[in-house]
Amino acid sequence: MDSIYIYGGNFLRGETRIQGSKNAALPILAATLLVEGTCVIQNCPRITDVYHMQNLLQELGCRVSWKGSTVMVNAAGISDYRMAGESVTRMRSSIMLLGALLGRLGEAAMAYPGGCVIGRRPIDLHLSALKEMGVDITEQEQMFTARVKSLKGMDYRLPFPSVGATENVLLAAVLAEGTTVLHNAAREPEIEALCEFLMEAGADIRGAGSARLVIRGVRRLHEASYSVPADRIVAGTYLAAALAAGGSIFLEKAPSGQMKAVIGMAREMGSSVIANPEGIGVHAVRRMDACPYLKTDVYDGFPTDLQSPMMAALAVARGRSIIEENIFENRFRIVNDLKRMGADIRTADNRACIRGVEGLKGAEAWAQELRGGAALVVAGLAAEGLTVIRNRHYIERGYEDICKDMRRLGADIRSG
Ligand code: UD1
Repeated sequence: MDSIYIYGGNFLRGETRIQGSKNAALPILAATLLVEGTCVIQNCPRITDVYHMQNLLQELGCRVSWKGSTVMVNAAGISDYRMAGESVTRMRSSIMLLGALLGRLGEAAMAYPGGCVIGRRPIDLHLSALKEMGVDITEQEQMFTARVKSLKGMDYRLPFPSVGATENVLLAAVLAEGTTVLHNAAREPEIEALCEFLMEAGADIRGAGSARLVIRGVRRLHEASYSVPADRIVAGTYLAAALAAGGSIFLEKAPSGQMKAVIGMAREMGSSVIANPEGIGVHAVRRMDACPYLKTDVYDGFPTDLQSPMMAALAVARGRSIIEENIFENRFRIVNDLKRMGADIRTADNRACIRGVEGLKGAEAWAQELRGGAALVVAGLAAEGLTVIRNRHYIERGYEDICKDMRRLGADIRSG
């Protein structure tokens, strides 16, 4: 139970469709709290992080229903502003509900959010920005309470372009009094998607997708519908799978415009990539070239979420690669599992040195977090023999059905 079984070594061939983006869907679902009516969110990924967010919305009094991959949220009758306990600590993105609750009710009380164990992941940037809007925050042991009579626009520079803090400021600012100018905002495409949804609901936002967001508070938002864009991280994971195992695959709907750094790297490794509005086609032989230097960065640099899947691909490349992780401090947790599969990897501080080996051997491996878990699948697809990945539930936080998608591409993989 809770495992994935892979007989690796198959060349990947065929096409699969990329699901909607987790990191876009979560803040958009939080944003539905700002609307006193029904919002319709299409192409919403059916993953456990989204179900957690659904539970939180329901606990707050929202009505939520699904039809296929469309989710409808009615937040007209929200009755509570408190979110304690497990549902918050299980998922870091519950913090998005803070800005939305403040915008809607002027009050929120929540446990400190959890999420993947990939570093300290504090929320100081969120709280400092919200305080600047007039929010009063009192901290207890495991909880904090935030209150504001009326949110005030501000002129504010984020010390670091945090994705979550940018989203929380947006959620608080759309119904605030006056104008908010946010400098050094994160530019990840998922923030642009959140802005598009909010504007669809009547928000006044300029600069979506840029580092300077100007948000003029409006009195209220109205019902809206929005289709979640495809997930660039899922697409990048499957691209890494082709680089690791060899493959000739097409990733339908993959948002190639958002994936320049990843595509650039895949080409540097010697694969041929065709990117167009319909998706991404990649052709890779077994044992691609190493990537001499890869460093993760904020958008549009190489995404930290794809660092582990790429590490798995580089483990079987020809030559030596160096990875520098600059966003999260604890993102080399798969190294021991990869080493047990035969990889030659050394780490020091935020750097990993990977000497590509001829092949990996199947082994038992333990997912410890979402993207690291997906990276173990990538490694298993390239390895000879049976790989068993335990703790499948971590992977299900972000991938609808990675086994089905990989089977479509010819892999011998099943969950059990
Ligand atoms: C989001 C993504 C996650 C991705 C990350 C970076 C979602 C649901 N998650 O996470 O998949 O890996 O962006 O692209 O969209 N930090 C602070 N204080 C804060 C906030 C952040 O020190 O108040 C630090 C974090 O510990 C981390 C760095 O800033 O080292 C980046 O965090 P942030 O951009 O906020 O990422 P998340 O929003 O948590």
